[in-house]
Amino acid sequence: MYEPYITDFTMNIHNKIYQSYLDKLGNLKDYKNLVKNIDDFPINERGNILFNLGGALNHELFFSILGQGEMSELFKNKIIEDFGSVDKFKEEFIKTANYVVGSGYTFLVLNNDKKLEIINTSNEDTPYSYGLKPIMNLDLWEHAYFLDYQNNRQEYINNFFSIVDFSKVSKIYEEIQENL
Ligand SMILES: [Fe+2]
Repeated sequence: MYEPYITDFTMNIHNKIYQSYLDKLGNLKDYKNLVKNIDDFPINERGNILFNLGGALNHELFFSILGQGEMSELFKNKIIEDFGSVDKFKEEFIKTANYVVGSGYTFLVLNNDKKLEIINTSNEDTPYSYGLKPIMNLDLWEHAYFLDYQNNRQEYINNFFSIVDFSKVSKIYEEIQENL
């Protein structure tokens, strides 16, 4: 579906990894609210539940923004306001992604000051845990690229914007804006 940048083989395996997070969550639903209410669970279970919740939320976002599509005017204007230009935003995203060590993600989020910000998270941490609203992300776990790129993570990162559907990213941003 996203060949040649990500093979179907990788996407199929990646989907199985996502499914295993869902399986581990079992009957738990409404993941976003569960992140906020994690204190309701026994303390010894919280880490494990949060890991699986993050795994579900982070993959749902990542899979949902892949494809081809253009930015809406509203989202593009916000990108220009907060980063200077679309190119500068992409440059900063790629630069930040290169700072990820081990397993993690690079996210575009809306922060508490209502500004767009690019952040890295470790393992399956979700920005919701920090009160940040995720808009798009890049999966930088080895399972996301190793079969296609082996140790050349840089090329995987550089190719990312060839398979981002910015119309979907725009919609996510606009929905967050409407519900602020
Ligand atoms: Fe992943």
